[in-house]
Amino acid sequence: MNTLMDSYGRLFPYLRLSLTEACNFRCTYCLPDGYRPDGHPVFLTRAEIGRLLRAFAALGMDKIRLTGGEPSLRRDLSAIIATTAATDGIRTIALTTNGYQLRKRVEQWREAGLTALNISVDSLDRGRFQRITGHDRCDDIRQGIETALTLGFDSIKLNAVLLRGLNDDGLEQWLDYLRDRDLSVRFIELMRTGDNREYFQHRHLDAEMLERQIQQAGWRPRARAANAGPAREYGHPDFKGRIGIIAPYARDFCKDCNRLRVTARGDLRLCLFGDFSIPLRPLLRTDADHEALVGRIAAQLGLKAAGHGLHQGHTGITPHLASVGG
Ligand code: 5AD
Ligand code: SF4
Repeated sequence: MNTLMDSYGRLFPYLRLSLTEACNFRCTYCLPDGYRPDGHPVFLTRAEIGRLLRAFAALGMDKIRLTGGEPSLRRDLSAIIATTAATDGIRTIALTTNGYQLRKRVEQWREAGLTALNISVDSLDRGRFQRITGHDRCDDIRQGIETALTLGFDSIKLNAVLLRGLNDDGLEQWLDYLRDRDLSVRFIELMRTGDNREYFQHRHLDAEMLERQIQQAGWRPRARAANAGPAREYGHPDFKGRIGIIAPYARDFCKDCNRLRVTARGDLRLCLFGDFSIPLRPLLRTDADHEALVGRIAAQLGLKAAGHGLHQGHTGITPHLASVGG
């Protein structure tokens, strides 16, 4: 029984756990100047992560997404995946990565128990990819995806943030790519964060335009799984791949929100754009605090607000998504 329900009746079967704030990419919309550590951050240890996951699983959580920053910068990532897989009740373990280590490590992650992969691929074009991320890694990541496709993952999703003038002419290339590949590309509307206000004004593109374009090309909405993310998914009889649209500025985006976040420092965040966080780390030091931890998490869920304030230009305390996990 899933007992993680808030006062608006929304269920939270899904936890996004950030493993680090560090990232080695410099995506122009996120960390254009690269990651700069503030102080000497000490991120959750594997033992703390194990305790955290047991508490969420005790409340009915069955899906975990490991995020960052860039989670593969942690040398113990495979061990963390194995710890997650060994937690009773957790059935889906997903990883969000920029793909930097994908080709080298994806087999190892799969063996450790990873079941789903999300890879950021803002463009399939090598030059555009480099311009957006600061790294000439497009071909390497595409090879890693080909390997991943042979490993029996439950799902592989590629994330592309829509950026005016940087990758908004790539649909045809994506359609070619999707014809024979059993994966989904999700086009994500750029979100305004504390650090990217000017960039947002310059580059933000309305995802609904793209959505109309794919509908006209014969793509049709697919049914939504109960623990699905925020994407509206489309399929097409001539294509093996699927397209998802994530439009955070659309009406009712928050209505179906089923995500909770825990930052790499162990703070529970109820909304990406919320104004507060709840420290869990003091209760992660020993197994003896399990009940207290479960109680603190359950008590906080009643506080999740009915919607974010992005329309009002409100970005909460999120300077960029690397700080909390996308
Ligand atoms: N708006 C939309 N998507 C973003 N991401 C990072 N920052 C933003 C933003 N400001 C995306 C990344 C990654 C996913 C986890 O979040 O590109 O694919
Ligand atoms: Fe790193 Fe992801 Fe931010 Fe890009 S979007 S800089 S890969 S955290």
